[in-house]
Amino acid sequence: MMTERVRREIDLLESFSKQGESYSDSTGRYGWRNPIREDTGGLLQALVVTADPARMLEIGTAHGLSGLYLISGARAGTTLDTIEFDVAVAAATQQRMRDCQVPVTVRCGEALTVIDGLAGRYDLVFFDAQKNQYQSQLERLLARGLVGPGTVLLADNVIDRAEECADFLRWFIDREIPHHIIQTECGLLVAKLP
Ligand SMILES: C[S@@+](CC[C@H](N)C(=O)[O-])C[C@H]1O[C@@H](n2cnc3c(N)ncnc32)[C@H](O)[C@@H]1O
Repeated sequence: MMTERVRREIDLLESFSKQGESYSDSTGRYGWRNPIREDTGGLLQALVVTADPARMLEIGTAHGLSGLYLISGARAGTTLDTIEFDVAVAAATQQRMRDCQVPVTVRCGEALTVIDGLAGRYDLVFFDAQKNQYQSQLERLLARGLVGPGTVLLADNVIDRAEECADFLRWFIDREIPHHIIQTECGLLVAKLP
């Protein structure tokens, strides 16, 4: 649900430059986190509306821009777990989510380690941390039964950082799993596990 508070926070985060190291306000306190581009947030939101997940997982939290879009597309009761290994960023973003009163839990740690501590099934996963780890993260999620038939998979940067995502993209091709690459600025992969 897109509340007024969430809209304001999204507008604030969208207002910062997203180019390289200048993703920050005048104090520099936001640092460099390379968030989703302007063309991707609304798309994530719309995909959540149509997928109607009960539980979502994001890998790569940063300041919570994509997380806010994801949760704002969800119905009441849906939760988002999101993984970030930078301790200060994770804490600040958890506070932002509390302030926005959204059911988002920031899980701090290295993605593969955090995944090993998760339980239950996720209906939607958004990959947006290290691109060359998308495949190993997916394999770990599968091995632990955290994703399965019907889980929607979304991944950013599959065009602008295609080389780093090559193993991940090949994973879908080798298994003949239907997947779509939406031509956003960075390229967004959309798939549903059979
Ligand atoms: C591209 S940014 C995420 C942007 C965010 N999804 C958004 O659009 O607002 C990637 C984030 O993932 C974190 N990260 C990178 N590799 C990670 C890993 N292996 N485990 C946990 N967090 C990681 C980085 O610290 C960074 O904040």
